[in-house]
Amino acid sequence: MTEADVAALRTALTGQLLRGGLIRSGEVAEAFRTVPRHLFLPEVDPAKAYVDEAIPVKWSADGRPLSSSSQPAIMAIMLEQLRLEPGQRVLEIGTGTGYNAALLAHIVGETGSVTTVDIDDELALAARQRLHDAGYRSIVVATGDGAAGWPDGAPYDRIVATASVRDLAPAWTGQLSAGGRLLVPLSLRGVQQAVAFERAGDHLASASVVACGFMPLAGELAGQDPVRPFGEIPGVFLRVEDDREPDLAALHAALGQPGQALPTGIAITRSYLFSGLGLWLALHEPGIGELAAVGAAAGRNLIPAASTHIPGMESTTVLVGEVSMAAVARAPGTEQETTFEAWVRGYGPDGDRVAERLAALIRDWDFAGRPASSALRIKAYPVGATDGEHAAFTIAMPHTRFLLDW
Ligand SMILES: C[S@@+](CC[C@H](N)C(=O)[O-])C[C@H]1O[C@@H](n2cnc3c(N)ncnc32)[C@H](O)[C@@H]1O
Repeated sequence: MTEADVAALRTALTGQLLRGGLIRSGEVAEAFRTVPRHLFLPEVDPAKAYVDEAIPVKWSADGRPLSSSSQPAIMAIMLEQLRLEPGQRVLEIGTGTGYNAALLAHIVGETGSVTTVDIDDELALAARQRLHDAGYRSIVVATGDGAAGWPDGAPYDRIVATASVRDLAPAWTGQLSAGGRLLVPLSLRGVQQAVAFERAGDHLASASVVACGFMPLAGELAGQDPVRPFGEIPGVFLRVEDDREPDLAALHAALGQPGQALPTGIAITRSYLFSGLGLWLALHEPGIGELAAVGAAAGRNLIPAASTHIPGMESTTVLVGEVSMAAVARAPGTEQETTFEAWVRGYGPDGDRVAERLAALIRDWDFAGRPASSALRIKAYPVGATDGEHAAFTIAMPHTRFLLDW
């Protein structure tokens, strides 16, 4: 492929992101038109590098992606959420391929600076070389646990994490400038939202909330892993946020005993499951989780009633009981439809009751006016500083108390 060919692919992808409303500013458009993503994905056919898809580049032994070049759509959304300006100092947590660092550097320009840190020294080394080769020579690529930020370059006008977190590292607030923005893929009981926080006195307050999906941050901030291998087949996982330890053997056996399927009468799209509805379910019911088959396990119908089929992933939202569970399914015959009626299927001895509870929650969300995650307001207080504040939902993490209101 010639330089002109890849430039045409870049322009086409940028156009697609502009038409989709994901890129909204000239600066972000110019960065996507200019920075050559294919140079950061040397193993990938250049044509594939300009498709709007996440591209995993490293996997764990049990088949989970450890690093990827994120989907351009979510990179565009987050670059817009950052409200970058030339001359700003930016810290990125999660260098990965280095492509996003190059986009950041393009926007803040020569008067600005970008520091990026990855916990994986192999990835950091490769990214440093690629950034150098692509001409982004002033970017500092560091190796370490991004939970500590990178004090050498502080304070930063913008700090952005490109792996998901359930908590905010105190170092990030400490290294953020007075008028700065901290942008993190925040997992709220397992449902991720890219949240741009700004300082508001003694706490941080959300300025923008958009649904997203990232792999989890490793290291000190990782906490207990809510994802468990499910059954014998590698690549099949159950994620449950509940503190109870699920009886995985019983739950797996339950899938062999499908109960009745309940229509809910509620039409949804799968994106609702990842944003407003998914968040509503997770905030109201601790047993909400996700059953997923990823990588080679996807596309083999291992997830009964899967409501989501995307390349490399098949999944559905589940409500996990003691020895039974219920899954959000599509109404029969709507497998190919964008909008479908949500049905709920129960599995196991108590599956019907669990399914009724899940169906009721879906109807409650509809009755409440289908709150969208973008309407969520989040306050993040350092632990110990929230006396007297009330909110519809509270999530207490080791470093941060999140107060949520719709
Ligand atoms: C989705 S990838 C990042 C994509 C990247 N921004 C790009 O443009 O290619 C997430 C990255 O976060 C890194 N990571 C995970 N835990 C980390 C931590 N505690 N500190 C720094 N990086 C971490 C992973 O090694 C992985 O490379």
